[in-house]
Amino acid sequence: MISGKAKLAGVMGWPVQHSQSPRLHGYWLEHHGIDGIYVPLPVKPNDFEMAFRALPKLGFSGVNITVPHKEQVFNFVDELDPVARQIGAVNTVQIAQDGCMTGYNTDGYGFMENIRQEIPTFNAKNGPAVVLGAGGAARAIVCALVEAGVTEIRLVNRTTTKAEELADSIPGEISVYGNSDVRSVLTDANLLVNTTSLGMDGKPPLLIDLSNLPVNAVVNDIVYAPMETKLLAAAKTRGNLVVGGLGMLLHQARAGFQKWFGVLPDVTDDLRDHVINGMSG
Ligand code: ATR
Repeated sequence: MISGKAKLAGVMGWPVQHSQSPRLHGYWLEHHGIDGIYVPLPVKPNDFEMAFRALPKLGFSGVNITVPHKEQVFNFVDELDPVARQIGAVNTVQIAQDGCMTGYNTDGYGFMENIRQEIPTFNAKNGPAVVLGAGGAARAIVCALVEAGVTEIRLVNRTTTKAEELADSIPGEISVYGNSDVRSVLTDANLLVNTTSLGMDGKPPLLIDLSNLPVNAVVNDIVYAPMETKLLAAAKTRGNLVVGGLGMLLHQARAGFQKWFGVLPDVTDDLRDHVINGMSG
């Protein structure tokens, strides 16, 4: 039950009807007995500026921003967190009492927290990380890995110029490779992450030769539909510890929830089941 004093948050995107965020935040609000609500906010790209600027006037505590507004929102926030600035995209906005809007990017936080929860013994400093892909998700993940103290990142992408741009814009030991180099760069890797859309339902599979990957390396696929991608299944079969992609989505949401509602919620098995049920519904 919400009162007239309920705190307001939501997700602004186009389209948003497939977003799991209302279900996810709704679970936490109920679990913690918070007087608040998290709603879908379907806003077309041309209406974004007007709708976004109205949020403080409507009394919102903040919002998530999703496709296609994640870059556009950059121009309309009053302040930018340094991590969001480095990543070049905002997915979470906090609105202060005076209406000041601050943009954050919590994808990298979600990525690292997911691995930490799933594999508590994982130490990012133990060896090179191989990152497949050079899109928005890769950028957030590379920033998080640098922050976590990874000494060497091997960035593999079909379009190497895109990977070079990413590597040049982030301080750190980042080397760039084309897709044909993937087998050799896996030698002595401590972590392999797929940030491409390959392997997602409806997309071509991700086919890579894992034979050079040490069996004690961790393999993370950020794709979560299906929950177990072919990459994760193959890695598991040869003895690698694997981390699925749903956890990144759940963990990145924790940071926003804390900013708007004042409680840092947990990712539990019950929450996972609740979100998975929503995805199949
Ligand atoms: P996001 O912002 O979600 O990370 P994106 O910016 O579209 O998504 O990036 C998608 C990534 O998947 C890119 O690295 C892309 O490679 P290119 O930079 O060469 O486009 C990669 N990708 C998508 N489809 C691919 C395919 N069929 N083969 C190889 N890589 C692919």
